[in-house]
Amino acid sequence: MRAIPASLTARRNGPLAGRTRVPGDKSISIRALILGALAVGETRISGMLEGEDALNTAQAMQALGAGIERFGERQWLVHGVGVGGFAEPGKALDFGNSGTGCRLALGAVAGCPITVIFDGDASLRSRPMRRVLDPLERIGARTLASADGRLPLTLVGARDPMPIVFEPPVPSAQLKSAVLLAGLAAPGETVVVEAEATRDHTEKMLKHFGAALRVEACGNGRRITLSGQPELTPRPIVVPADPSSAAFPLVAALLVPGSDVILEGVMMNPLRSGLITTLTEMGASIERLEERNEGGEEVADLRIRAGALRGGDVPASRAPSMIDEYPVLAVAAAFAEGTTVMRGLKELRVKESDRLAATAALLRGNGVGVEIDGDDLIVHGSGRAKGGGVVITHMDHRIAMAAIVLGLASDRPVAIDDGSFIATSFPGFVELMRSLGADLS
Ligand code: S3P
Repeated sequence: MRAIPASLTARRNGPLAGRTRVPGDKSISIRALILGALAVGETRISGMLEGEDALNTAQAMQALGAGIERFGERQWLVHGVGVGGFAEPGKALDFGNSGTGCRLALGAVAGCPITVIFDGDASLRSRPMRRVLDPLERIGARTLASADGRLPLTLVGARDPMPIVFEPPVPSAQLKSAVLLAGLAAPGETVVVEAEATRDHTEKMLKHFGAALRVEACGNGRRITLSGQPELTPRPIVVPADPSSAAFPLVAALLVPGSDVILEGVMMNPLRSGLITTLTEMGASIERLEERNEGGEEVADLRIRAGALRGGDVPASRAPSMIDEYPVLAVAAAFAEGTTVMRGLKELRVKESDRLAATAALLRGNGVGVEIDGDDLIVHGSGRAKGGGVVITHMDHRIAMAAIVLGLASDRPVAIDDGSFIATSFPGFVELMRSLGADLS
């Protein structure tokens, strides 16, 4: 049962104010569960995201033989079985809505001689998996999947995994991570050469667990070399607040006149902070307070004050550092004065929904001028939005939350058809927004 009601309506109210903390980072929580399962012994995770995407990954790790225990609020223990130690699960692994959980687990299983069925919900079943299966087959796994490699699919892990050199055809941290996790089971060096740097949580966590991993700059990207067959040693993981979740109250605070909000402990990893860079260029007031290091990541408390925004030009090269933030940036752009061009968004078409189309529809249905030109999204901002629409969310949590943010600042209320998927990444979203003064019903 999902805690968030199906339909939700957001309407303009007084300023948003207060101090709060969004849930733990989804990328780090999922990686902590998977690497904890691949380590020998007990990994303690604090601040874990208790959203459905992470919970489905936890269940999958359990089905593969790891012990998973929740010992307090957001406090979890993983009893790992070691690299190559997974057991064949008795049933299909269901990753629900989570592309990250599914693709990283495909990598983690690929070097283990077991047969595993991978499945997910209708959104995940529509997403491309061939991009991950191709390199895993080169490592030695076999896959039984439809020609286009969609879920459900069967993976037969490699008995003798081979190290490979892999150049991801698209910038994707999931793809990079799947290959590195599979490479753990192979002898020798597995190499991933990224043309553009993507989020580096897998690399950081592998090092944290004692794997020998080298990262070298390579053009605009990175060359990552992993020595296979390490014994991963459990180390405590502290999960910082998710910048991709923080994006929603952050943009809401910028747009609702008079707002003044502090978001605590937000991860400031430069490979995740493209939204803050962009909004700052557009004139936003976002102050970094108490910058510090927590659990190996830079974090800061962010003070956000409402104010006028101007349109901007967001280069394609910035996309990997803000790939999940475009729907809410597009909402901010609607309230800016002037046109905002967001370039190079091809990958948005294969997220939980076709986010390029869904974001354009979200704005258009609420009186905002918007165009898609090839892979670019162009928003004609006028400082306000009419609202009054009902947004179709297509099983996509970020479309749902972006629409809510729009409704908090538009002339008329905005409704969404289905808020239930918000629980995949941001449990407590409605309560948190209401605690800041948002009118959600
Ligand atoms: C993620 C990588 C991104 C992002 C997703 C989380 C990760 O996907 O959209 O929400 O944790 O590695 P891609 O790797 O497909 O770009």
